[in-house]
Amino acid sequence: MNLLKNPRLNGVLLDVTGVLKDGGTAIHGSVEAVRKLREAGLKIRLVTNETQVTRRALAENLLDLGYPVQELDIVSPCPALISFLQRENLRPHLLVHSNVLPEFEGIDQSNPNCVVLGDAAENFTYEHLNEAFGILINMKKPRLFSLGRGRYYSDKEGLMLDVGAFTAALEYAADVKAEIIGKPQPEFFRSTLKDMGVEPEEAVMVGDDVVSDVGGAQDCGLTGVLVRTGKYRPSDEKHPTVHPDAVVDDLAHAANLILESRK
Ligand SMILES: *[C@@H]1O[C@H](CO)[C@@H](O)[C@H](O)[C@H]1NC(C)=O
Ligand SMILES: *[C@@H]1O[C@H](CO)[C@@H](O)[C@H](O)[C@H]1NC(C)=O
Ligand SMILES: [Mg+2]
Repeated sequence: MNLLKNPRLNGVLLDVTGVLKDGGTAIHGSVEAVRKLREAGLKIRLVTNETQVTRRALAENLLDLGYPVQELDIVSPCPALISFLQRENLRPHLLVHSNVLPEFEGIDQSNPNCVVLGDAAENFTYEHLNEAFGILINMKKPRLFSLGRGRYYSDKEGLMLDVGAFTAALEYAADVKAEIIGKPQPEFFRSTLKDMGVEPEEAVMVGDDVVSDVGGAQDCGLTGVLVRTGKYRPSDEKHPTVHPDAVVDDLAHAANLILESRK
């Protein structure tokens, strides 16, 4: 029996790290899976928390790995945050990865009235965190934006601290609640679906993060599929609050399930 049975299924949202690739390599079977989904006429978006590289660099990387994707297929938190900063006349102090600094080029960063945290990797030093803290604590109404709130991710060297851990540190020290841009924020999923012209009940999200990918998508009315790749741990299948609509070995299996569910 196919648990996803849904003839209206029309849109597929795919997480990138841990679903399409792990470290620097493509996950076995995933390139072919994306191709099959494309060929079946499904609308695809790659919904990532990636804030270490620009969308263009990520697209180039995925192309190199053999994925039939382009920059516009990628939904990442940076562009969403930048349009928000512009709308609200916010001037950020940035603690982000140097690879995404080009995305912020047109943004006034003088006399900052907010702090933006991205995955700054090795630049999450005491000095930089303390500098961000100093700016927040001296603001009348501190505003802290965080590009995602991941606790950790899996990389070549194993599990690595993600931006969320540092966001929590600044929230604690400056007594401020961070505004999160990215999964599992409902607005992030909704704006993606709107852009695709797909209703939530016509869409499925495939991810390796049971809370952000699967739970976040399900909260917005999408079907949520967990893959046993990337940061997946067996305990995710017994998560106290999130119950995936399906759990499969990898994206290749997820793609088969999705294609069969439409019949
Ligand atoms: C850290 O900061 C240095 C100096 O600004 C920069 O050259 C380097 O690329 C940064 N690394 C990351 C991961 O952002
Ligand atoms: C992405 O960011 C959200 C915060 O919006 C966080 O809760 C989640 O863990 C992150 N997901 C991944 C896959 O890193
Ligand atoms: Mg992931």
